Amino acid sequence: MGNLGRLFASALAKLPERPPLTLVVHRPDLLKQWLAVPGVVLHPPEYDASGQSQGDSTPRITDVDVEMWSETPPPHTDVHAAEISPIRNLIIATKAQDALPTADWVRRYLGPDTAVAFAQNGMNKLWPPYGAIYSKARYHDCARSPLWLACVVTHGVYSVGPFASVHASPADVVLGAVDKAGGRDARKAYLVNQILAASQLEARWAPRHALWLLQLEKLVVNAVINPLTAILRCKNGALFAVHAGEDAVDAVLPRVIDQLLTEASAVLRALAQHEIRTGSIFGDSTTSDEASAAELAQRLSFASLRAMVYRVGELVKDNSSSMYQDAQAGKKTEVRDFNGWIVDMARYLESVAATDSKTLDVSGHQIMVDLVEKAVPLTEEELGEYSFSIKEA
Ligand SMILES: NC(=O)c1ccc[n+]([C@@H]2O[C@H](COP(=O)([O-])OP(=O)(O)OC[C@H]3O[C@@H](n4cnc5c(N)ncnc54)[C@H](OP(=O)(O)O)[C@@H]3O)[C@@H](O)[C@H]2O)c1
Repeated sequence: MGNLGRLFASALAKLPERPPLTLVVHRPDLLKQWLAVPGVVLHPPEYDASGQSQGDSTPRITDVDVEMWSETPPPHTDVHAAEISPIRNLIIATKAQDALPTADWVRRYLGPDTAVAFAQNGMNKLWPPYGAIYSKARYHDCARSPLWLACVVTHGVYSVGPFASVHASPADVVLGAVDKAGGRDARKAYLVNQILAASQLEARWAPRHALWLLQLEKLVVNAVINPLTAILRCKNGALFAVHAGEDAVDAVLPRVIDQLLTEASAVLRALAQHEIRTGSIFGDSTTSDEASAAELAQRLSFASLRAMVYRVGELVKDNSSSMYQDAQAGKKTEVRDFNGWIVDMARYLESVAATDSKTLDVSGHQIMVDLVEKAVPLTEEELGEYSFSIKEA
């Protein structure tokens, strides 16, 4: 029931043949708050969050079930406690670090007839190589595991209170299957059809390799903008502002951004080559021929990633990143799922001899993880004192 949970719930509730919706919370106080003032509210972009608006006309969505899933009995006597039923359709809209633990926690209610859609930023944990290992360990065989789906979400939503968010920047959702679906036709799943039909989500279906690539590209944007805005405690646009009178070569931020992109590009290109060789992502697509491999290398090149990050940076310049907001609020951030993932992937690729015996330099991403977790705001000059030096792309 965070921001994306509210967005998905509101969008699904507007369907002409609306599916039954159950909102799941995991804290007793949220259940209490719901009982006191029931309803999910997703305000439109023009909503004035400062409270200066004339009245509040956004409808509340109240005709939904609310459940708190817990292993301990409910503290209130006015709620009904029961074992939950097997789950057929589940959207997991937690932060990245809670997503797989949540799916794992409810695994005895999931099975081959379940579809689970993850809505996190960062790479989904069920992509190769670990997805098949996880499904086999937990469900004995991929054909008996749920249908794992992932959404790449570009909408911007921020919270203005319990069960209330502002849909600040409407954009889109790309949805697809993360695993090979054990021979099932993922596109025909009920959950997929509901998400695609919910017009507010602007969702479209993508084949597996296209979704994988989109998630990688979004990861790069998040691995640059999020930690830097959290460390410098600034809005997104400040990262890309032209430094008047400053020699671009000496400016700290362009240098740091270039190092992060150089490292990410080397890791992602090695990963793409590895996936082409092993066939786990591209095995069933036409992308495995040489021309497409070159296209992939081009899309993950330093120049393409850099152009993409600066393009997105311009679009979201007035926003505050979620990591900046989490850092300010003293909350745990997603840095380990963004920059930490790039560091871990470099080590994994080295361990499976996928880097031509070379060590992949990911020191910039490791510095991002360390500085964000230290949670001490820095100035641009102080950031420049960390050992950032551009290696050859
Ligand atoms: N917001 C956006 O605009 C946006 C856009 C694109 C992508 N994303 C990505 O989408 C993900 C979610 O972001 P968000 O903004 O929606 O985060 P959020 O508002 O913090 O929502 C996450 C929610 O999950 C709840 N939760 C955690 N474990 C749970 C469990 N076991 N059962 C039920 N609820 C549980 C959290 O509750 P507690 O806080 O009480 O633990 C929180 O309310 C992140 O990966 C983010 O990067 C967000």
